[in-house]
Amino acid sequence: MIWSILRRVVGTLGLALLVAYGAAAGLTGSPVVDISPVLAQTSGAPPGGALSGKSPTERIWGPIRRGVQGSVTIPDKQAATLVQSDGDNWRAFKNGPLSQFGGWLLLASIAVLIVFRLVRGQIKIEHGPSGKTIERFNAVERATHWVTASSFIVLALTGLNVLYGRYVLIPIIGQEAFAFITYYGKIVHNYIGFAFIAGIIMMFILWARHNIFDKVDLAWIAQGGGLFVKGQHPPARKFNFGQKCIFWIVILGGITLSLSGVALLFPYEITPWAATFKALNLVGFSLPTNLTPLQETQLSVLWHSLAALVMIAIILAHIYIGTPLGMEGAIGAVGEGQVDVNWAKEHHSLWVAEMMDESAGGKPRPAE
Ligand code: HEM
Repeated sequence: MIWSILRRVVGTLGLALLVAYGAAAGLTGSPVVDISPVLAQTSGAPPGGALSGKSPTERIWGPIRRGVQGSVTIPDKQAATLVQSDGDNWRAFKNGPLSQFGGWLLLASIAVLIVFRLVRGQIKIEHGPSGKTIERFNAVERATHWVTASSFIVLALTGLNVLYGRYVLIPIIGQEAFAFITYYGKIVHNYIGFAFIAGIIMMFILWARHNIFDKVDLAWIAQGGGLFVKGQHPPARKFNFGQKCIFWIVILGGITLSLSGVALLFPYEITPWAATFKALNLVGFSLPTNLTPLQETQLSVLWHSLAALVMIAIILAHIYIGTPLGMEGAIGAVGEGQVDVNWAKEHHSLWVAEMMDESAGGKPRPAE
């Protein structure tokens, strides 16, 4: 028994590593996975081998490359900076370490879920379906869930396309189709963000009070949520500790994604970083607070991408456990709003007890 589990784990780990290697090699375009920062693209770089120390034209290009500013009378004062060298470093970081880290993170998340599935299998309703259901989420809660979830999925796909599409999609669908998808994807990304913001606000209003951490969570943590051992069902109210964590990650991650996203909708106009760094410096950081609008926008792009990658990696686990692939009987909660009473008793025993004590609406009714 133990050997067969071990064999499956080792086999799956090997497979996951192979997939991860293949994807990373694909991302970097090299069979040797190099995690050093890629060099910024050279086409479009300022002429004269700027800053090389060897160029005959460095006398002219050197100061420009170092960001020397002229003066302009047109409204866009940014035009006074001919070349912003930081942009080159920024692009190298975004297309290099950030993209590679994100690729690995997403693959790691998928690999962990595959291993979990192979070891634990589907989490079943241990006592079997009772045939009676109880209302888990009402129509407003379900609509809120799906507005947030569907907008997040569209934002994730269109956003990932901006980061990775050129590596993954161009070889498959060609440049023209990729340009079409990316052009319209960007427009969709800009507008659907507002549905996501509305969903996050609604989720907070509906569920925040059920997600305050309390001492019931300690038993859940001690037993690892009963996720790893069959027959273990720690008590929980409407949301268990794991769900509370997901909830606050969605709220806080949603807020930071929304704020940085809106800052990117109005580049050079919404500039939140100098003030953020000033506040962080009060608690011991020493971050630069004299930032140009261009640097502000560059920071927003990096932060927005990083926060999105981390959130997608976490939400993948949520999606897995919410579907029948991960857990029997959970999907009904956000589907028709009803869950089986035995499912509810196993995963949310204290909540079921509260519901039974309440009005007739909380009483179990026969499944349709
Ligand atoms: C296909 C995608 C998804 C599926 C199948 C799914 C499934 C579920 C299910 C079954 C529940 C109810 C769990 C229960 O009854 O206790 C739930 C709750 C929830 N979902 Fe989703 N979900 C999806 C996508 C998302 C996305 C993209 C977000 C946010 C960005 C999200 C945020 C939440 C939150 C905050 C809760 C309440 C806390 C929790 O159960 O973790 N969901 N989801």
